[in-house]
Amino acid sequence: MKHALIIGNWKSHKDVSEAKKWFRELAAAVSSSDASEVILCPSYQLLPLCQEEIQQYQLHWKLGAQNVSPFPAGKHTGEVNANQIKDFAQYVLIGHSERRNEFNETDEILFEKVKRVREVGLTPVFFVQGRKTPIPEGINIVAYEPTFAIGTGHPDTPEDAEAVAHYFKSVRHVPTVLYGGSVDDTNVNLFMSCSSIDGIVPGTASLDPAVFARLTHNA
Ligand code: PGA
Repeated sequence: MKHALIIGNWKSHKDVSEAKKWFRELAAAVSSSDASEVILCPSYQLLPLCQEEIQQYQLHWKLGAQNVSPFPAGKHTGEVNANQIKDFAQYVLIGHSERRNEFNETDEILFEKVKRVREVGLTPVFFVQGRKTPIPEGINIVAYEPTFAIGTGHPDTPEDAEAVAHYFKSVRHVPTVLYGGSVDDTNVNLFMSCSSIDGIVPGTASLDPAVFARLTHNA
């Protein structure tokens, strides 16, 4: 079976007690023989707690931040910079359509964020909404998430996701391409059996520990 990269995107969900409960239930449900590689992306303030929980339950997972400041450390009230993230996470999600649409993040801002993340040795996971989305030079992980499929229960077809993933691999030379948008434990295998898709990005399906455990098992 293919080694799947699974990025769980909690978005703006869960407080401390909910996160603790999630790990407790997840640990009881997850199988240690699963071959998937998991990166969990909680909100910033949960990163230290998730770091502890991952250790406690010996999950061998990694953590990612859902966002990063386009600026280095300095006078930028409310921003969390890449250097502050690197104590807790190895990855940063950049260019999600929710950031582009709700917070007006432009390609220029997103490219700056990629620079900041690389300066401190973190790995950017760059989101694209289709073939036309510009990507920074040398990006290693791209997540294809068509906006219509996000949180709707209507994923893209595996054929279309495969075609877009194939394009980013063969034409844009991106080594790792993921698909996200209404992936759950019942359809994950359809996407993972596409030859150009290396992993998936569940949002809604990462919130319930039983569903997420099944998803990592079925990937
Ligand atoms: P969804 O979200 O799985 O709820 O569709 C995916 C995402 O936005 O990363």
